[in-house]
Amino acid sequence: MKIVVIGGSGLIGSKVVNKLREHGYEAVAASPNSGVNTLTGEGLAEVLKGASVVVDVSNSPSFEDAAVLEFFKTSTGNLLTYEAAAGVGHHVALSIVGSDRLPDSGYMRAKVAQEKLIKESSMPYSIVRATQFFEFVKRIADEATDGNTVRLPPVRFQPMAADDVASAVGRVAMGSPLNGIVEIAGPDQFGFDELIRQAHSAGKDPREVIADPQARYFGTELSERSLVPGDDAQLGETRFEDWLSRSAVDATAVAKTISQTPN
Ligand SMILES: NC(=O)c1ccc[n+]([C@@H]2O[C@H](COP(=O)([O-])OP(=O)(O)OC[C@H]3O[C@@H](n4cnc5c(N)ncnc54)[C@H](OP(=O)(O)O)[C@@H]3O)[C@@H](O)[C@H]2O)c1
Repeated sequence: MKIVVIGGSGLIGSKVVNKLREHGYEAVAASPNSGVNTLTGEGLAEVLKGASVVVDVSNSPSFEDAAVLEFFKTSTGNLLTYEAAAGVGHHVALSIVGSDRLPDSGYMRAKVAQEKLIKESSMPYSIVRATQFFEFVKRIADEATDGNTVRLPPVRFQPMAADDVASAVGRVAMGSPLNGIVEIAGPDQFGFDELIRQAHSAGKDPREVIADPQARYFGTELSERSLVPGDDAQLGETRFEDWLSRSAVDATAVAKTISQTPN
C-alpha cells in the first residue's frame, strides 16, 4: 500500500517514513527538496498517483503570523483537492494539543484553520494533536531568554519525543480514518520551568530559569492547562530524563566523529 508523507524530509516526516517502511508499506517522502510543493501544487498529481493514504507533517518555513496562516491554508487546500482527484482514501494531519485554546497565537490560529479545512472537506481524515516535542524545548527556552534569564509561565507541560510522535502518526496512518481527533503526549507532566531547568542542568546551560506568571509563550498568555491534553490522550513511552541522557551520548558521539574526520 502506498502512503505519501508530505514533509517527509522533516524531523517527524523522516521518522514516519522509516517506521512505515519497517511495516512493509511503500512510503514516499515528498517535499520541495524532492520536487513536491503543496503551496504551488508542483509535483502533487504525480506523487499522489496510486496513493491510498497521505500523511501531512509539513511545516511552514516562516512562523510569522500571516505567512504561517497562508502556508497551512493554501497547502492544506491544495492537498485535499489533489487527494480527492487521485482517489486517496485517508488524510492524516499532525496538529497541536491546545491549538483551539490559544487564539492569540498566530501559529495556533493557522493550525486551527488547517484542521477546519480538513474537517469540512469530503476526505476521510484523522487529526493527531501532539504536545510539544522534546526536540523543541531548546527553541522554547531560547525564545523566553532575556540576557542570562529564562522566564516561563508556571503552567503544566507534558512534552514528548519526536520518535513517539512518529510512531503514533504511523499507527494512525496504518489504521482506518478516525474522522476525528486523537491527542498524544509524553508519559509525564512537569511544571514548565521545572522541565527547562532540568534540561539546562543536564546540558550545563548557565541560564537561570524563573517561573514568572507574567511571562508569555511565544507572545501568548497561557493558563494552567493550556498545553496539556485531556484524560484520553495516548502517552508515548520515552521519558524526558532518558531522552536527555541519550541525546547527550549522541552529541558526544557526533563530536567524536567530527574530530576524527580528516579534512
Ligand atoms: N514543534 C512542536 O513541538 C510541534 C508540536 C505538535 C505538532 N507540531 C507539528 O508537527 C509538524 C511537523 O513539524 P517538524 O518539526 O517535523 O517540521 P520540520 O522538521 O520543520 O519539517 C518541515 C517539513 O515541511 C516541508 N515543507 C516545507 N514547505 C513545504 C511545501 N511548500 N510543500 C511541501 N512540504 C513542505 C519541509 O520540506 P523541505 O525539507 O524540502 O524543505 C520539511 O520536510 C508541523 O505541522 C507542526 O505544526 C509541532
